[in-house]
Amino acid sequence: MYNLLKGKKGIIFGALDSNSIAWKVAERAHEEGATFVLTNAPIAMRMGTINELAEKTGSQVIPADATSMEDLSNLIDQSTEILGGKIDFVLHSIGMSLNVRKGKHYTDSNYDFTHKGFDISALSFHRVMNLLYNKKAMNEWGSIVALTYMAAQRVFPDYNDMADNKAYLESIARSFGYFFGRDHKVRVNTISQSPTPTTAGSGVKGFDGFINYAEKMSALGNATAAECADYTISLFSDLTKKVTLQNLFHDGGFSNMGVSDGVMEKFVNEDA
Ligand SMILES: NC(=O)c1ccc[n+]([C@@H]2O[C@H](COP(=O)([O-])OP(=O)(O)OC[C@H]3O[C@@H](n4cnc5c(N)ncnc54)[C@H](O)[C@@H]3O)[C@@H](O)[C@H]2O)c1
Repeated sequence: MYNLLKGKKGIIFGALDSNSIAWKVAERAHEEGATFVLTNAPIAMRMGTINELAEKTGSQVIPADATSMEDLSNLIDQSTEILGGKIDFVLHSIGMSLNVRKGKHYTDSNYDFTHKGFDISALSFHRVMNLLYNKKAMNEWGSIVALTYMAAQRVFPDYNDMADNKAYLESIARSFGYFFGRDHKVRVNTISQSPTPTTAGSGVKGFDGFINYAEKMSALGNATAAECADYTISLFSDLTKKVTLQNLFHDGGFSNMGVSDGVMEKFVNEDA
């Protein structure tokens, strides 16, 4: 361990269970000397095992629905009080599509579901930054990271309306990141992560085929949740102070591949 986050204070959204990417980030942040507050939707508190993580990392848990300004405002006020000062890092690790969950095909969306999924998965990032910015709750040279997926740029048919939500999320990182950088010297980035076996990931139809394909297609193979946590820690650390407004691919090279030997092997004898 490198003490990369020694003395830093943070808020980590989205640790549901030990498979969650946010869970691994919390474990790594703790190892690197950070103190932080954990938060998740009130319903996730009952479904998941977040208290176990809180105990392990000496953290407090504050429930907040990421679509509620009231909950988020309370979360930020309480966090600065508990942590004894302004915030240095924030992880937004939140995603949910009701269309995916309820099996609605993209070409036949239920727009109430679309609205709700958009609010949870994309607009929540704006809400969180709006409150952090206006409350002046971030320290200078702080770092805000949200997790995203490459379906924001390329077609992955079963990713459904989450593709649109991720495109919006990445755009918010740039738009808000400008003002946060200009006015508060805070950086804002998104990490575009490989398919990862978590509750949210496994909810995508055909996930097993999808993750195997990405594994074969990537120069280095898929990035794991633990590796994503390492990368996130680097972005929270002082070693990446001038990295901002970026969508950073953390995918073993998948995003720049055309085809790989491993994938070609499956097709060479197809017509024979
Ligand atoms: N798993 C993958 O394949 C993959 C790939 C790329 C990006 N991501 C992104 O990583 C992030 C974390 O997902 P994960 O894979 O760790 O899965 P996960 O299911 O463990 O995490 C998703 C979290 O979102 C939370 N959430 C849902 N609705 C909420 C609300 N209203 N308010 C607050 N929190 C709410 C859930 O409780 C859960 O903790 C998501 O943004 C996801 O889209 C995942």
